[in-house]
Amino acid sequence: MAQIQAIKGFADSFPEQSRIFEMMEDTARKVFPLYGFGELRTPIMEYTDLFCRGIGTETDVVQKEMYSIPDSKGRSMSLRPEATAGVMRAYIENAVHARESVSKFFTIGPMFRHERPQKGRLRQFHQINCECLGPKEPEADAELICMMMEFLGRLGLKDLTLQINSLGCAACRPAYRTSLRNWLHGLGTGQLCEDCARRMETNPLRVLDCKVPACKALTEDAPHILDSSCPECREHFQTVLRYLDAEGIPYQVNHRLVRGLDYYTRTTWEVVSNSIGAQGSVAGGGRYDGLISQLGGPEVPGIGFACGMERLALLLQGSPLPERRPDFFVAMLDASCRDAAFALAQSLRRAGFAGMLGYECKSMKATMRQAGKSNALHTFILGPDELASGRVIIKNMGTGEQQSIPASEAAACISAGK
Ligand code: HAM
Repeated sequence: MAQIQAIKGFADSFPEQSRIFEMMEDTARKVFPLYGFGELRTPIMEYTDLFCRGIGTETDVVQKEMYSIPDSKGRSMSLRPEATAGVMRAYIENAVHARESVSKFFTIGPMFRHERPQKGRLRQFHQINCECLGPKEPEADAELICMMMEFLGRLGLKDLTLQINSLGCAACRPAYRTSLRNWLHGLGTGQLCEDCARRMETNPLRVLDCKVPACKALTEDAPHILDSSCPECREHFQTVLRYLDAEGIPYQVNHRLVRGLDYYTRTTWEVVSNSIGAQGSVAGGGRYDGLISQLGGPEVPGIGFACGMERLALLLQGSPLPERRPDFFVAMLDASCRDAAFALAQSLRRAGFAGMLGYECKSMKATMRQAGKSNALHTFILGPDELASGRVIIKNMGTGEQQSIPASEAAACISAGK
């Protein structure tokens, strides 16, 4: 019969890989609470309107990459392509702003984007995402970046570049948009790709984010947004950079960094690695002071970032994880020992030890081969003689030492490292 395969761009994660994910999640759960973050779990599916209004209709994510299906009433629902919009929806719907002036949430889970799969780019991928809602002050931006760098540092990641920019605010961005559009018009028609030719009119900042090499080269000398920023935005950005300097966090100001989602204002950043190929952006984020009101909520500013877990896992490949060996393997030499072997394994687990039961009755040689493969620290062997005397053989797999002990002392023997 024909085999059924996984959907393209949707990957399995076997225990070895899951351990890397687990390690990232554990690190996040240690670092983020230091800054007052708590976990928020939101649904993986939301009404499509949320993403259109939140992320922006001119973005690749909304135009090309969403997995959408109609519900029974014909209303479109989409698998979340990112976490931010859903967190905002939950925040507004539950009127969290009425209870607290600052809210800090992290979210860990799968996201879905119908992109062309390649190394570091999947259609189902996972993000560790943080959102800080309430403060407009630059300290919040700096703290969040410090927290993200602390998280990446604790994972043992080095050689990452933090790129940072400011996208201005509602007051100063329109002037930049106009000057950028005029500058793009000056390039002449037919030079930019089809998408850029359209976006030049609808949302010219998107042109700076185009991945087509010809467009990238053509816009090399485009005007810098910081040159059109209002004094408040400039002051905000300089203050963020000052805090980063004070904390010894290196960064590069990248004038072309506009990010792929439309909700950003002021500080935006990406963390890039050169060692995992074309998809080198391992984290990205920024401020989004107008997003909550744009989604029907109050005028509450916000800022956040997300790390791509698969990309972090690529960077962590090959770095040693602490060895995790089972404490025991329980083997039975005869079917008459089944009940006793089952009970022994269960009692060891109740005592807090991890291990496996050898389900099949095998010869001593085959049993020991199986026990060796399990990589357990101790093997317990039960045969008819042991059963009759209420004893069990314990073999220390490290030293090879073997002895007969009362079955009731099995857990104590593991504890004593016998
Ligand atoms: P983003 O830059 O679209 O931002 O995604 C954040 C990270 O998710 C990227 O840097 C990358 O590591 C990972 N990522 C994105 N797409 C894929 C993919 N197809 N396969 C594997 N990894 C991927 C956001 O999603 C914003 N919501 C971040 C944010 C939170 N901004 C404010 N708050």
